[in-house]
Amino acid sequence: MSDFEARNKYFDSLFANRDLRWMGQNTNHIPLPAAVRQAIEESVAADEFRAYAPPLGFEELRAAIIDDLGLKGATAIVTDGGIEALYHVCHSETGPGGTFVTTDPGWKWPALFSRAAGAEIIEIPIYDEACGYHLWADQLAEKVDNRTRIIYLVDPNNPLGTCVPKDEIKKIAQVARSCGAILVHDCTYRHFADDHTLAWPYYPEKTLTIYSFSKWLGLAGLRVAALVGSPEMLAALSRAAPNNLGSNVLSQRAALAGLRSKSEWFPTVQQTQRSNQATIKAVVDKLPGFRLPVYPSNGNFLVVECIDAGLQPEAIVAEMQRHNIMVRQGAYHTARFGHRFIKVSTTVPTEWVTEFCKLLPAVAHQVRGRKENAALF
Ligand SMILES: Cc1ncc(COP(=O)(O)O)c(C=O)c1O
Repeated sequence: MSDFEARNKYFDSLFANRDLRWMGQNTNHIPLPAAVRQAIEESVAADEFRAYAPPLGFEELRAAIIDDLGLKGATAIVTDGGIEALYHVCHSETGPGGTFVTTDPGWKWPALFSRAAGAEIIEIPIYDEACGYHLWADQLAEKVDNRTRIIYLVDPNNPLGTCVPKDEIKKIAQVARSCGAILVHDCTYRHFADDHTLAWPYYPEKTLTIYSFSKWLGLAGLRVAALVGSPEMLAALSRAAPNNLGSNVLSQRAALAGLRSKSEWFPTVQQTQRSNQATIKAVVDKLPGFRLPVYPSNGNFLVVECIDAGLQPEAIVAEMQRHNIMVRQGAYHTARFGHRFIKVSTTVPTEWVTEFCKLLPAVAHQVRGRKENAALF
């Protein structure tokens, strides 16, 4: 079977399993605010999804996104997921002769989009305790030049869960300005961070911020996000945009209801997921050869290292799946460091974490010496 069909069948069979505990894709499975469900139901009842939404998104939602980010002067285009925004930016702004600079590990798809467009990909390794597991401006400065078209910064970093400190964000913005590159600041996990700095105020003319409702609000399957930047940049990008016919109507209604209920609902989500992180840490600390390189994580996930236990991440992932728990092998994120870890999502019901923690020591014992050959994605 071809790889692309195999990948689809893999996710199709995971989706068909109603008992699956989704702890591998940083999705959010904590019950939604009632207002969000109600907004979807009202939209369905009003039959309003029969028409196309406005091309840039409902005005109320666009304004609420800018308000949530606190980026006065910026503007937002609602997109069918952050990935669509990234696809559009990478294909529009990179091509042969240009470079796309990012971190390793990071989120792999945008680099693949730019590579498909003809750009050279440059990855800066950051899986390193000595550098605090995040990018530093000096490292970046060494890799950029007048060929650099996009600097793609996932911050908080997926999978590491680190944030770039404010002083470095300022310097990274300066580096981007010095070479005229677009700084794509992917802030998909921003809501889970203790202290996160947006780059836009330091380089408004060429920073594009990626905002998503998939993780903090838990609307991954509804596909709703936003591309945020200066009105000039977004005007240029919207000339030939892929979602010219507007984004999903139900999703936008849900997103707006989510933003309106955020202050009452989200603090409990954050509390739950940080407490889930602590539960996992307690088990990992007792398991020989296991370790959390970053704790607490500023994302809704943890990197759990198993390399010093001599275990293959894929073997753990496959065994956990036999127990209806999906966690992710590090290789999904990085070829260079992927053999070191699995990644575990924490915006899930506490019972799922309890089950994972109960299983982990037994699974670690069971997979000793095992090499998993089944394809995982
Ligand atoms: C860093 C990062 N950016 C973007 C996305 C995609 O977000 P969306 O669901 O809004 O397309 C993900 C999803 O995992 C991600 O990890």
